[in-house]
Amino acid sequence: MTDPIAVDPDLYAPGWTASPDDWQSETTSIGSSLYRGLLDNGRRIPSDELQFETYEAGYAVNHPGPVPDSANSCRHLVDLILESDRENPLFRSPVGADRERALQVLDIGTGQGTWAIDVADMFPNSTVRGVDLFPPPVTWMPPNCVIEVDNVLEDWTWREQFDLIHMRNMLGSFDPSEWDRLYQQCFDKMAPGGWIEQLEVGPFVKSDDGSIPPDSAMAQWGPMMQACGEKAGRSCDIILTMSDSIRKAGFVEVREKTYKWPLGPWPKNQKLKEAGTVNVQHWMSGMEGWCMWLLTKFGEPEPWTKEQVHVYCAKLRSELKNPYYHAYHTSRRVWARKPMPDETPPRSFKSSSQ
Ligand SMILES: C[S@@+](CC[C@H](N)C(=O)[O-])C[C@H]1O[C@@H](n2cnc3c(N)ncnc32)[C@H](O)[C@@H]1O
Repeated sequence: MTDPIAVDPDLYAPGWTASPDDWQSETTSIGSSLYRGLLDNGRRIPSDELQFETYEAGYAVNHPGPVPDSANSCRHLVDLILESDRENPLFRSPVGADRERALQVLDIGTGQGTWAIDVADMFPNSTVRGVDLFPPPVTWMPPNCVIEVDNVLEDWTWREQFDLIHMRNMLGSFDPSEWDRLYQQCFDKMAPGGWIEQLEVGPFVKSDDGSIPPDSAMAQWGPMMQACGEKAGRSCDIILTMSDSIRKAGFVEVREKTYKWPLGPWPKNQKLKEAGTVNVQHWMSGMEGWCMWLLTKFGEPEPWTKEQVHVYCAKLRSELKNPYYHAYHTSRRVWARKPMPDETPPRSFKSSSQ
């Protein structure tokens, strides 16, 4: 993870000018690592679903600006690409090796239900529940996937004990005491030996080679989101704290993996190039929605106007198209186990990083 990402020298043709069309050829190759990792090895990720999401990413390339509900699909696609050499790219918790076993799975803040639906397809004997404050905009579900509208901060009424509780992209959703309560409910409703897994992105945009100017909109993004999140009482940098919070709730064997998420097709490595191509579209379509509320409520030195946010986002968009900025941000996956009733509590509080 700490190795610098090698830059693709072939990306820089003489006379290169930034325009959305320049990304098109990169987008058309997105399928390769997905198909290599998910389909060629005989897994049951439905190709139509992936195809659909790839088209959504392609749609975003050709229609810069807000794309209904595609931002989270692009994000799901980046997760899948970065794990595409694994037999199961959907989660790392060691459950489900025996596909026959009926698992009880819960996806908290399921959004469109993309993760829940894919897990239900991959584990047809299992029951996957997705829960969100809002109903998902989907018309078809696998029969073993149930989406429920509920507030996870209320007392949970599910009768089952879960083997796997998953959440993703929940940063900014809760204040610290709400996070503690949520992890505690996860612990209490988990079957002994069951696993919790969370995947979050960090807000700081970085480069390994100093190619991002310190006064750029990209460099400004992380500190600005962090400051607004702190003022709102909802940290935007929970990738730094989630391991400890999960451990505090009583989980053991806390493991974590940190990923670099490139912004753009600039990496030489094909998998990172594909992830960067989709990720940049995720940002193009999502960024205004992510920052509008925070900046107009908590922006510095005083709350920004909508117009100021539009101008800032336009600058960020143009920087995201610049192949000379070798930008990335990080994401982190944490997974941990609920101990068995007779298990001695662990002596060490250190996480193991992968
Ligand atoms: C950024 S979206 C992430 C969606 C999905 N996990 C994904 O990765 O595609 C966060 C989701 O959390 C949901 N959410 C926030 N607070 C919640 C709560 N108290 N109870 C249930 N869902 C909640 C939101 O409605 C939203 O759909």
